[in-house]
Order: sequence, then structure tokens, then C-alpha cells
Amino acid sequence: MCGIVAVSANRNVVEVIVNGLQTLEYRGYDSAGIAIIEGDHIAIRKQAGKLSQLKQELAAHPVAGHVGIGHTRWATHGEPTSANAHPHDSNNAIAVVHNGIIENYRPLREQLIAAGYAFKSATDTETLVHLIHHYQAQGMGFSAASHQAIGQLEGAYAVAITCMSDPNRIIAARKGSPLVVGLGDGENFVASDVQALINETNQFHYLEDGDVVEITQDSCHIFDAAGQPVERELKTVTLSSEALTKDGYAHYMLKEIHEQPTAVANTIAERLYNGRISPYFINEAATAILQQVDNIHIIACGTSYHAGLVARYWLEAITQIPTQVEIASEYRYRKPVVPQNTLFLTISQSGETADSLAALRFAKTANYLSTFAVCNVANSSLDRETEHCILTHAGPEIGVASTKALTTQLTVLALLTLKLAEIKQVDEAVRKNLAEQLITLPGIINQSLLLDDQIKVMAEKIVQRDNALFLGRGVHYPIALEGALKLKEISYIHAEGYPAGELKHGPLALVDEKMPVIAVCPNDELLEKLESNIEEVRARGGELFAFVDHKSQHGLKDRVNHLIELEASGSFTSPIVFNVPLQLLSYHVAVLRGTDVDQPRNLAKSVTVE
Ligand code: G6P
Repeated sequence: MCGIVAVSANRNVVEVIVNGLQTLEYRGYDSAGIAIIEGDHIAIRKQAGKLSQLKQELAAHPVAGHVGIGHTRWATHGEPTSANAHPHDSNNAIAVVHNGIIENYRPLREQLIAAGYAFKSATDTETLVHLIHHYQAQGMGFSAASHQAIGQLEGAYAVAITCMSDPNRIIAARKGSPLVVGLGDGENFVASDVQALINETNQFHYLEDGDVVEITQDSCHIFDAAGQPVERELKTVTLSSEALTKDGYAHYMLKEIHEQPTAVANTIAERLYNGRISPYFINEAATAILQQVDNIHIIACGTSYHAGLVARYWLEAITQIPTQVEIASEYRYRKPVVPQNTLFLTISQSGETADSLAALRFAKTANYLSTFAVCNVANSSLDRETEHCILTHAGPEIGVASTKALTTQLTVLALLTLKLAEIKQVDEAVRKNLAEQLITLPGIINQSLLLDDQIKVMAEKIVQRDNALFLGRGVHYPIALEGALKLKEISYIHAEGYPAGELKHGPLALVDEKMPVIAVCPNDELLEKLESNIEEVRARGGELFAFVDHKSQHGLKDRVNHLIELEASGSFTSPIVFNVPLQLLSYHVAVLRGTDVDQPRNLAKSVTVE
């Protein structure tokens, strides 16, 4: 991961770089740094910890200049110390920032040490900057030396380089890690994503793998992997900078939880018409593929994987299409059997997750009918590389713990299920009912948000605990998994999600009066079975927390310690609805524990390394 911003302008660029890095902290926040061409030297400021530390350092020791590069880091090689923070320099003549992993850094480092270079950090990145210096010392110009060195790198990377001997020029390159070029008036930019530059420009080139770009204040030249000049389409991006603020909420996560009714409505808008899927959902070519689908393989990571697990229940129950779901990092190293007419479907909020992209690239070489993706970021690598992409319209998600992205992914997957149900000629009354449930979904999610005060009280009972168990059955089992993931991600309480029927095969041994057990209890055909599982917990003294559908005939009132009733939803959309109070529960537990809700320790939002 890591975030990169680089600018060549006719004004002081420090603030532009720092503001850009602020929006890129979702990519990592172990350290931050900046290198500015300042008169006759490269001024470097870097600090371990978040960008706020760098800001303090810049306030104490200001820098100014028209050309510079900046970085926010998620540590891979070398601890998150100030010495390992980027930018790295060679003899104060060249400075580099890097996102990704240089796999062949060891032999390169040994060669460079033998050539007399002294390394100041434990990073793989420092090899690149000395390598460029090495070629410059042999007489090459900045451009030739950089192209030569970049050509030697193996692995995944995005880099930006600045150089004293050619002080207006920035050279940047990508392979496997995202990078965009922003064009301004008398100034040009490079960054890991468009959000970082949206206050400066809305004109962007999306670089492709292997591309190298050279920018100055008034020029931009892109070269492809073969070193040939190449044109990349110039896109106008419409993204409001307000979408990137907290808008009065204490945290991005809370704002994003509350945005869910709108995000779902936006995701459904124009795609559902008169109870049927409209042509705005997928085009004719994609529809023609869906008509041939006999199997589906879904691949994703983290929360997006949980979306896939829910979709399997829907797809198999409603369309009878056999569906498998797998974690991308496992799938990519397996030798999966791909039956005839199997659709490959990737789900990803960012569209930049390295394991998901690698799985997609593998799938394109395998016997798949086609590759589809569900993604929140237009023009991301996933959007560009998959054959068909269905965008969720969640808007930017900044909180590291995914909330509205999942809800909108599930919404798209529900629409896809409905589309396949139409193709498979599932009974019209059934389809109509599913469509009606989707239309009422934003309103029902709104009702769930009104439970906030009750959920806060529940959170107070969990905040002191070290462990928690989340139980669900059927299509709500993945929601239990997601509830546990959310709690562990942001509150650091150890939590596990379990299918309630499996409790007696192991986790019941953990249950005593210190173990909170949180049960997702929708009004479905498994409710009675779930009640029996809850009895098993009660008999062992576990403290029971239940989320129930207020219309269901459950006997849980006197059998659980804490109960919250949700607005009734249909059985199709119920997992989406039940997920919302679990998000709020984790949020309030985390706030009470005083953790960093939006940027939990050791994590990053977009994981662009293996
Ligand atoms: C990271 C994030 C998770 C996310 C996962 C997959 O681990 O912290 O919230 O679910 O990556 O990301 P993607 O962008 O592919 O959905």
C-alpha cells in the first residue's frame, strides 16, 4: 500500500502535497514524509507515525519549493521508524517515494553496497534511489538513469522520483500499484488516486501497468512498458471534495454508516424499473454472458468476501446456479477446476486489492466464460481489467473498516441475483417480491439507524470484555462473520463469527459468564433452531445479546440478557438490514475503548501488496 503525491508547479507545493497525503492516509499511516527541491538541495522531512507528526515537524522546520514528492507509508520492509520512512535519497541528489514491494531488492542492494553505497534504512525502496544515482554517476541523465533502474525492478510498485540535476522534472512509474497523473494549468501532478488531487484538478490520465511518466510544470510525457511514447485517455473526474469531509460526524465511519440509506438508493436508482432490472444495470453484452452462466466463482478479500458469502445463499436459493466463494489470497495459489460456462466474479470496494487483482489476472487465463466485478471505484485497476464491471454508488469510503461499501455491494449482488432470476425465468411473483424488498431497503436501513441509543447501551456491556462470539445461521451466518470482523478491526476485542449450529462442536467450550454472545436472529425458517442454540449458551452462563425482527414470534425476550428489535424486512434483504446495528455496535465499543476508529492500528484500507 502507501500513498504517493508528487507535484511540479510554479508555486510552493508543500501544502498541496500534505493535503493530498491527508486523503491518502487510508492507504497506510505508519509514517509520512516529503522531499522538496529547495534551492541547491533536496529538503527532506519525515516522521514515524501519522501525517499529523509530519505536520508538526514541518511547522517546526518549514520547507518550501516548487517541486516535490510525498509519501504516507504502510510498512512492509523495515519497521515503521523515521529512518525507514520515505522519501529515501541518494547523496542528496535524488529522492524517491515508493508504494509496493521490490522483490529483487536483495541482490540489487548487495551490488550497490559493493559499489560503495551506504544504506540508511532497512527498506527495499532505498535500492532504487541508489541505483538511479549509480547510473547517473556513469553519465546518464535523470531520465535515462530512471528508466534504466525502473526497468530492473521486479515486483509491484508505484514510484515518484525527483532529482537535483533536473529540478523541474518528476519521473513516476507504476506496475501493480495504482498511479494517476493530474494535469493543471502550469502545474502537473502524480498521485496514488484522484481523491488526493481533486482540489487541484479534475483532468486525469490513469497510468497502465509498466507505464513511466515524466512531468514538469508544463509538460507530461507517458511511456509504455517498452519505453515507447504513448497516449493515455484524458478523463474528467467528477468527485466533490465535500464527499471527503466528515460533515460534522465524529468519525468517517459514523458518517459512512449514516450514508447507507442514500448509498443504497443511489445504487438502485435507474437500475430497477417496474419490478424489473433495467438496461442501465448491465449492458447487452453482459446480459448475453449471463444467459450462458451455469456456475459462478466469487473471489474477494475481507468484508467484500463476506458480501460474496451472502450472495451465494441468494444465487443458489433463487436462481439455482451453483456458486462458490473463496478468499482471493487462497484462490490465486490453488489450481481451481473451472467447469464449462463458469462466471468469475470479483468483489472489491477499492478495486486495487492485490490478491483480488491477481486472482482476476489468473482467471483471465483460465477457462472462464467471462470476468465480472462489483466495485466502488470507477477507473480502478479492477474496473479497467475486468470484462464487465458493475459499480456500487457508495461514494468515497474513508474509514478503514468497510460499512457502506458492503451494503452497496450486497445491493448490487441482490440486483444481479434478480437479473439472473429473470434470465432463469424464476416465478414472476417471487421476483416482484424481491424487487419490492429492494425498493423499501433504504427506508428500513434508516429505521435501523434510529436504534443508535439502544445500541450504545449494549456497547457499554461489551466494552470491558476481551472476547466476543457472534452467531448467525443461513444467509445471516456471513453477517455474524462480518460483525466479528468489524469488532476486532476497530475495538481490538478478539471476536469470532460462528454458524450457530456449529457452536456445540467447539466454541461452546469458551462460553462462560465472561463471554458475550451476540446473536443475529431474523424472522426466518431457522429461527427456532437458532433459539435452541441460544439455549445452549444460556445453560453455560454466557451473556446473550440478540438482534431480532420486531414482527417475529420469538421466545427470546426472557431468555437473553439484552434484546434489540429491528424494523421488519423481507427475508431477501434481511442480511443487509441486520448488518447495520452490528456496525453501530462495533463503532460504539471502539469509541468507548478510545481506539482510533477510522485508522485502526496495523491496518490500511486499500491493500495493494500481497
Ligand atoms: C482491507 C480493508 C477491508 C476490506 C479489504 C478488501 O483489509 O481494511 O475493509 O474489506 O481490504 O478490500 P477491497 O477494497 O478489495 O474490498
